[in-house]
Amino acid sequence: MKMSSNISGFYKLSPEKRLTIVKKFANLSEEECQLLLNTGSLPLDLADRMIENTIGAIAIPIGIGVNFLINKKDYLIPMATEEPSVVAAASYSAKMVRKGGGFHTSSTSSIMIGQIQTVRIKNPEIAKIRILKAEKEILNKANAQDPVLCSLGGGAKNLTVKIINTSLGSMLIAELHVNCLDAMGANAVNTMCEAIAPIIEKISGGHVYLRIISNLATERLVRARCVVPKEAVGGIEVVDGIINASAFASADPYRAATHNKGILNGTIAVILATGNDHRAIEAGAHAYAAIKGQYTALSNWTKNEDNDLVGTIEMPMAVGLVGGAVKTHPIAKIALKILGVKTAREFGEVLAAVGLAQNLGALRALSHEGIQKGHMALHAKNVAIAAGAKKENINLIVEKMIREKKIRVDRAKEIIKEIN
Ligand code: MEV
Repeated sequence: MKMSSNISGFYKLSPEKRLTIVKKFANLSEEECQLLLNTGSLPLDLADRMIENTIGAIAIPIGIGVNFLINKKDYLIPMATEEPSVVAAASYSAKMVRKGGGFHTSSTSSIMIGQIQTVRIKNPEIAKIRILKAEKEILNKANAQDPVLCSLGGGAKNLTVKIINTSLGSMLIAELHVNCLDAMGANAVNTMCEAIAPIIEKISGGHVYLRIISNLATERLVRARCVVPKEAVGGIEVVDGIINASAFASADPYRAATHNKGILNGTIAVILATGNDHRAIEAGAHAYAAIKGQYTALSNWTKNEDNDLVGTIEMPMAVGLVGGAVKTHPIAKIALKILGVKTAREFGEVLAAVGLAQNLGALRALSHEGIQKGHMALHAKNVAIAAGAKKENINLIVEKMIREKKIRVDRAKEIIKEIN
């Protein structure tokens, strides 16, 4: 009989008890349940406190991106990803970039924007002036919510107001600009927005609905730049291939989406390893890529007068070193220790460099030999494992499948039978 998913009080149960319900619902075996409950270095009770309705944890490999030289400092980059080739490509690119002196980075301060949406205002223009006149009172109220952040030099710094036209008429949007220092900032900003909303409502005579941080962090940007000697990248033809790929991505949103995905392959792997909010970074990156009205590439590749390759990237980067999973997940803490960054800005700049490296690796492969050759060996390995190959036979099966150009689980299974 089909079970209902309408389960009251599920959240009150222990992970083990929840799993017995899921086991029945999905017909899981005892072995599958044990795999879920075996949460490795994230203790089950901690996992249970991190999110709701926990029944287990998923392990993603962490690899180390090597060769990174950023602002003359050496970094080892912890990268968590399920995608083969990402860590190898980042490391290879960082090696090429190193030959040109490494990455050079910069960033703005860590300002996040919180939005307060107010509707049903009789005269929005007058309300705007009145709200701006009360800026000091509003900032004081906001800052009273986070004395620690303020004592460290952060906090709400200014307020802007805009009137937007929507399908439901005009709305007044007050925007609080908060320096979040080493925090990602969502909690601080959201708390501040909720605290100042009644003042805005009273002054404007309107009605406040949303009070929330914006992930389009245009005042929290990171930049990286590198010069890669043409010899290091494979010669002038490869340089030209990469700059043509870049021009393609800048002009065409369909290509830009994939180009930016390649950047995020690197950036998000580090974000994941360090327990940061990857959805916030992805949302911000894509929104920033479209900020001029057409979605475009976040990075740009040109060549200088010596025909060496010059790469730049600029993107929003709302990352933190304090708060949330960053401080609770045991592996995230170790990943940050390996990375060795001292501030969220330094962290963000490293992420920009990793994104640029990842992008270089992809464009070089794409405009040169294509990515399938490199991908296929790793893909074939995964296929062999999925087919149940024994460790000592994996290489043999991989080679055979690649030679035959048949990288499929059914073929891997046949080869396994042939070997046995
Ligand atoms: C694959 O994960 C990423 C690439 O598609 C990126 C790109 O096309 O630039 C290779």
